[in-house]
Amino acid sequence: MIIAVDGPTASGKGTIAKALAEHYGLPFLDTGLLYRAVGFQLLQNGGDPDSPDDALEACEYSDDILEHPELRDEAIGGLASRVSVHPEVRAALNKRQVDFAYQPGGALLDGRDIGTVIAPDADVKLFITASANVRAERRYREMKSRGVNVEFEAILADIQARDIRDAGRTTAPLKPAVDAIEIDTSNMSVETAIQSAVTAVDSKVAAS
Ligand code: DC
Repeated sequence: MIIAVDGPTASGKGTIAKALAEHYGLPFLDTGLLYRAVGFQLLQNGGDPDSPDDALEACEYSDDILEHPELRDEAIGGLASRVSVHPEVRAALNKRQVDFAYQPGGALLDGRDIGTVIAPDADVKLFITASANVRAERRYREMKSRGVNVEFEAILADIQARDIRDAGRTTAPLKPAVDAIEIDTSNMSVETAIQSAVTAVDSKVAAS
């Protein structure tokens, strides 16, 4: 079974994806991490995220970078979003994701274009959303709890800018696949969101 979980930043897709992978015993790939690694490598190279050549060069990162805690930083997320606009970068990261998705025994991947580009014939496609305000609030609380000093308004602006860039790019934009099941987690607890995702997967599997 292949499960594709897509959605915007801070929608809860990462938490849901991890829980589903565990529930169904599937290997899990957070594809955002690959784009974040490119952003991180680009920073090391002193490159320009808006230059396709610099961004492509940064795709040759070493895999130890994937373990780096800084990859989770907001700044790296922003860089990842910028480098991910370039078709060259998406092409360079494509094979690794497709191979992961189509490994024997199935897999679960989370990202922006899993259901549309990487695994268009996934058995189940979920598109996780939440309002920009709720997502900004979640991100704000999470950063505060880590002792990071941030302004709510700045986080909200950052999330909105990222949504516009991710959904507005020409190649593989963030959008639900036509056969995706949408789950809006705005008014859901983490437990309820996970439960709705499990119910959605089970109903889809039972119907096929
Ligand atoms: O899911 P994330 O926040 O870690 O992703 C960081 C950025 O990477 C996101 O803003 C856009 C890009 N990305 C992408 O273009 N395609 C994916 N499948 C995953 C992430």
